[in-house]
Amino acid sequence: MRVLITGAGGALGRDLVSAFAGHEVVAAAHEQLDVSDRDAVLQVLGASAPDAVVHAGAWTNVDGCELDPDHAFAVNALGTRHVVEGARLVGARVCYVSTDYVFDGHANQPYVEWDATNPVSMYGRSKLGGEHELGPEDTLVRTSWVCGRWGKNFVKTIFERARSGQALTVVDDQHGCPTFTEDLAEMIRRLVVERRPGVFHVTNQGPTTWFALAREVAELAGLDPEQVQPITTAELDPPRPAPRPAYSVLDNAALRLGGVPLLADYHEPLERLVKELLSQ
Ligand SMILES: NC(=O)c1ccc[n+]([C@@H]2O[C@H](COP(=O)([O-])OP(=O)(O)OC[C@H]3O[C@@H](n4cnc5c(N)ncnc54)[C@H](OP(=O)(O)O)[C@@H]3O)[C@@H](O)[C@H]2O)c1
Repeated sequence: MRVLITGAGGALGRDLVSAFAGHEVVAAAHEQLDVSDRDAVLQVLGASAPDAVVHAGAWTNVDGCELDPDHAFAVNALGTRHVVEGARLVGARVCYVSTDYVFDGHANQPYVEWDATNPVSMYGRSKLGGEHELGPEDTLVRTSWVCGRWGKNFVKTIFERARSGQALTVVDDQHGCPTFTEDLAEMIRRLVVERRPGVFHVTNQGPTTWFALAREVAELAGLDPEQVQPITTAELDPPRPAPRPAYSVLDNAALRLGGVPLLADYHEPLERLVKELLSQ
């Protein structure tokens, strides 16, 4: 199978390139392919004629999107339209990576794939716009709280700050499931290779809060967890431009009910990542 990966230089993109080893991979990093450029997308897809496109490229700066909605929609929504258009021209299916931030977070039980979306941020709205561009043959993977070896992420930031002895305050009123790029990339490979269309929630298992996760990072790193103290979102100073859903736990119902083994509990990959950070 020939697979083109957009955003191939990103945190997930890099692990996607590894996960598809054994297939023919066309790794299109942002520098090679700007998805907001329709001509470029049609040209690259036409020239490479992939069987599938894993569309991981996105403007993921949630606060940036709030301040520049046009750029958010140009990349995340219109960019996805271009990718789907290009894929149709060469008969490729698209696997689009979306987010828990398409939900408003007012639920008190995990969201299933069929629940109504209602994003509260420009990032969430623009990613939902991308979802609406997909056809019935495409695959939509919603994930949450992405961490991993590559790029910047919450686990790495907490690890570095805690190690340097800084006191940290972290919000304890946002609930979600941390998801590790290596595990997520593996499930995306499976869904693409098995040609499974439709919406799938794909997260590591185990809901937590950012505060509880930060404490776990400190503990695993052998540091004093008391360095990390809880605050509420309302106490953030200065407040962040984009609102976040208070509760965005995704029930991986389509995998679970379809008999596909779920990703591991998040503690497993978290431990692996912290060990790796300690060894650097
Ligand atoms: N991070 C999370 O917590 C999270 C949660 C849920 C879903 N997701 C989704 O997961 C996917 C992968 O995100 P990630 O966590 O790997 O974030 P990431 O590291 O920011 O990866 C996104 C990649 O897309 C690239 N990109 C930005 N603008 C682009 C454009 N116009 N055309 C092509 N590529 C562009 C970025 O390049 P530059 O670095 O040059 O901008 C980056 O390499 C995204 O679709 C994101 O929406 C992420």
